Amino acid sequence: MSAQILKALGLGQTNSGTYLGNGEWSKTTDAGVVQSINPSTNEVIAEVHASSASDYETLVKRAQEAFAIWRTTPAPRRGEAIRLCGEALRKHKDALGTLVALEMGKIKPEGDGEVQEMIDIADFAVGQSRMLYGYTMHSERPGHRMYEQWHPVGLVGVISAFNFPVAVWAWNSFLAAICGDITIWKPSPKTPLSAIASMKICNEALKAAGFPDLFFLFNDAGTDLAQTFVDDKRIPLISFTGSTKVGRAVGERVAQRMGRSLLELGGNNAIIVDESADLKLAIPAIVFGAVGTCGQRCTSTRRLFVHEAIHDDVVASLVKAYKQVEAKIGDPTQASTLIGPLNSKAAVDQYVGAVEKAKVSGGKVATGGAALADRPGNFVLPTIVTGLKNSDEVVQTETFAPILYVMPFKTLDQAIELQNAVPQGLSAAIFTQNLKAAEQYLSAAGSDCGIANVNIGTSGAEIGGAFGGEKETGGGRESGSDAWKVYMRRQTNTINYSDALPLAQGIKFEF
Ligand code: UN1
Repeated sequence: MSAQILKALGLGQTNSGTYLGNGEWSKTTDAGVVQSINPSTNEVIAEVHASSASDYETLVKRAQEAFAIWRTTPAPRRGEAIRLCGEALRKHKDALGTLVALEMGKIKPEGDGEVQEMIDIADFAVGQSRMLYGYTMHSERPGHRMYEQWHPVGLVGVISAFNFPVAVWAWNSFLAAICGDITIWKPSPKTPLSAIASMKICNEALKAAGFPDLFFLFNDAGTDLAQTFVDDKRIPLISFTGSTKVGRAVGERVAQRMGRSLLELGGNNAIIVDESADLKLAIPAIVFGAVGTCGQRCTSTRRLFVHEAIHDDVVASLVKAYKQVEAKIGDPTQASTLIGPLNSKAAVDQYVGAVEKAKVSGGKVATGGAALADRPGNFVLPTIVTGLKNSDEVVQTETFAPILYVMPFKTLDQAIELQNAVPQGLSAAIFTQNLKAAEQYLSAAGSDCGIANVNIGTSGAEIGGAFGGEKETGGGRESGSDAWKVYMRRQTNTINYSDALPLAQGIKFEF
């Protein structure tokens, strides 16, 4: 199955991990190898030759050359390039979705869903290419006109994570492209094949229509090139998705050179279920949020606050639902599977470590709590832990695995306070049928997260909204709404069409 999928996407057993532009993939073979490992079996799917320092220099230079052409290409024409990428992705959706499932470990419908996010953001970007609006202002001086315009920022660096190996690149690079920028991508070393396949699909579509190279790619076998990338003054914007620990280092380094960073870091997302909640909606939302993608979305539900009057009943319903999904743990490419593996052995160790820590802190495992040793691959049981406090260290920490901590509350004020009392601030939700509770939750005194929902879960955001979060989540926003602005530089222009030179603020300077 994997050989067939690789072939369908133009990949082989060994692949170049560097797109140099001009249709050329690097021939470098001595800069290390990145192995793509199937998390369901821990077998190697294929290998990728990493990029050399000289490959990196070549592609940055070519990206600069491409930018010189692209920045003055009319924006609607830039939109046409992205329309073609969206069309090409539609054609390859099935194969690319399967490759994402194979390499990352998410189930096939979620792999396809991720490619659909790429297609959706392409459509969004096409429209946006005709709407790069700036304001006009009324000047305080007669015979003067003031307005602002948005120019492309230049080269955009994208460092993406394994859990969304293709969509996050598309959110960034498609918007950047319609803004007039050129993107250089360093994907996660855990998902190099999905990145190479996405690049091939889009670059071939661009080349066939005579567009310049808009997207470049390199893979790093260690961390040297990644550090060069982050420190590179030729790249004014670095968009980083990943852990808070690495994101903090990236943000500091980029700030050091006065660059701009867009950070999408960890979440510790909570759902509040109040006494009035419709449990027919709440239970499936909690289950999908906590166990979907095997708990490996940055928006996965990790904490659940349930009104004390219904706490035990909700836990019992969840345990029942978890037993049903447990029966559907398996190969993510099979249609019957609901939960695939964790992406790596290290992730299984972190899961086991967190469960141990939860027990030591006094937590009770209501269901799950163990890795599945009866099969190859990185499979674990989705887990519910009760009896912990929100302030317990393990609850405060984002473990990228399907572990849900359930805690009771008495009042909504208390639930909101507990929800917000973590370092992260990405996504959150309340289940309630009480209008006042919903409005309080969304008010300035409510949820402190970048995404706050009522009667839907924490994960699975649509591309049309700005995606990102506060506090240690990093503050970045990408994807929809006006997130395009981060890929552009704003210029304020004042034009004097009078015969006089009045100064602003009424200042007289006569000589
Ligand atoms: C991520 O996990 O890095 O909202 C992104 C969601 C997806 C994106 C998640 N649309 O769950």
